Amino acid sequence: MIFPEDFVWGAATASYQIEGAVKEDGRGQSIWDAFSHTPGNVADGDTGDVACDHYHRYRDDVGLMRELRLAAYRFSIAWPRIQPDGAGSINPRGLAFYDKLVDELLAAEISPYVTLYHWDLPQALEERGGWTHRDTAYRFADYAQAVHDRLGDRVSDWATLNEPWVAAYLGYGNGVHAPGRRDPADAMRSAHHLLLGHGLAARRLRAGGAQSIMLVVNSAPVLTPAQVNDPSAVPDEADAAVAHRIHTLLTRQFLDPAVYGTYPQEVLDAAARNGGTGHIQDGDLALINAPIDLVGINYYNPCVVEAGPGLPADAAWPGSEDVRFAAADAPTTAMGWPIVPDGLSRLLVRLSRDYPQVGLMVTENGAAFDDVVEDGRVHDDERVAYLDGHLREVHRAIEAGADLRGYLVWSLLDNFEWAEGYRRRFGIVHVDYATQTRTLKDSALWYRDVISRNGL
Ligand code: FCB
Repeated sequence: MIFPEDFVWGAATASYQIEGAVKEDGRGQSIWDAFSHTPGNVADGDTGDVACDHYHRYRDDVGLMRELRLAAYRFSIAWPRIQPDGAGSINPRGLAFYDKLVDELLAAEISPYVTLYHWDLPQALEERGGWTHRDTAYRFADYAQAVHDRLGDRVSDWATLNEPWVAAYLGYGNGVHAPGRRDPADAMRSAHHLLLGHGLAARRLRAGGAQSIMLVVNSAPVLTPAQVNDPSAVPDEADAAVAHRIHTLLTRQFLDPAVYGTYPQEVLDAAARNGGTGHIQDGDLALINAPIDLVGINYYNPCVVEAGPGLPADAAWPGSEDVRFAAADAPTTAMGWPIVPDGLSRLLVRLSRDYPQVGLMVTENGAAFDDVVEDGRVHDDERVAYLDGHLREVHRAIEAGADLRGYLVWSLLDNFEWAEGYRRRFGIVHVDYATQTRTLKDSALWYRDVISRNGL
């Protein structure tokens, strides 16, 4: 099973999940510092204060990437390192870190894929309203430009936002993520302002000469329980309507404005029921509809729903009245997430049909399992099986005509898994947090061979 010649193989991480060094070189506070330091928010009281200490160990970590023959490394920039207060003057010491990281990657012949926002909003901006506040979108564009001004001579691949659905709906809807607010109207406003920030930033990047710009979404096929194991199952009308609405809230809410400059009616209806649509100003959709080259897809598991007449909306899903979120009949990872590899090909084929103007890239895919180090090895057979199964579906989607440019495994390293803290290990490289020892898991060695063969 061979992949296209220019297929990009890599791995992904995010700043707050790996860097640590939260008080160093003038870094300001982010909403994740504030949130993780508030008791009860993160499992075991974990914080990103030290994480994988990547800020100090980035050279060794790039060495590991080289050993694994990665062609691409997707990482994110911590906005509070660049602008400690989220606005105004730029902190040169913060930029210097990413400058060195980019040079180290290029010296190892690894292409940097820079994500500008992977959830660590400067706390100072949250105090002014965070993403519920329209101005934050403009501040994001300024920050994006400052980063591009410094790195744009060496970085050609840019992503504006990581998973705006999660940032808006877990951050401001059910409060499971920072900043931990719980208000459906705030969540919907935030989703719009994130999109506005995406459009404004994409325009600045383009004006600065960026070669490739992408928006990264957490997408998933929305299936009825019967469809999980039988793609040919035909849902009844009520279930089909519910699945369509949830697909719209999860994926079309973000990709329709970005790619077509339109909001699906169901999104406007949901906003109308949750605080109104007054925050969507004339001209916003045109701004959001900035040309992009790629859509990044983070896929872990399908979303399974069926009609649930009379049920109230879930806190993370304003507009999800009368929907029952159901379990999938499938084995699960340590996160409890169902393993449905062919969900990925179903998703990719559909998105390439719905959004033919843009290329696709799998920007995250992977799994958490309870790994143990034995005699210097980690036999993570389940992760190898997970990755192998999903890569076969990536290949299948390419054969079916999807314009798929690459695959980035989540994650290079075990890291701070947000509200789950350090107890969930997603890395292909094991991290012993007490000693910061890195150990290549079997999945890392397997992935290196996949990359070398350009196939399975
Ligand atoms: C995604 C996030 C990423 C990681 C994985 C498991 O939603 O983008 O940071 O936590 O989930």
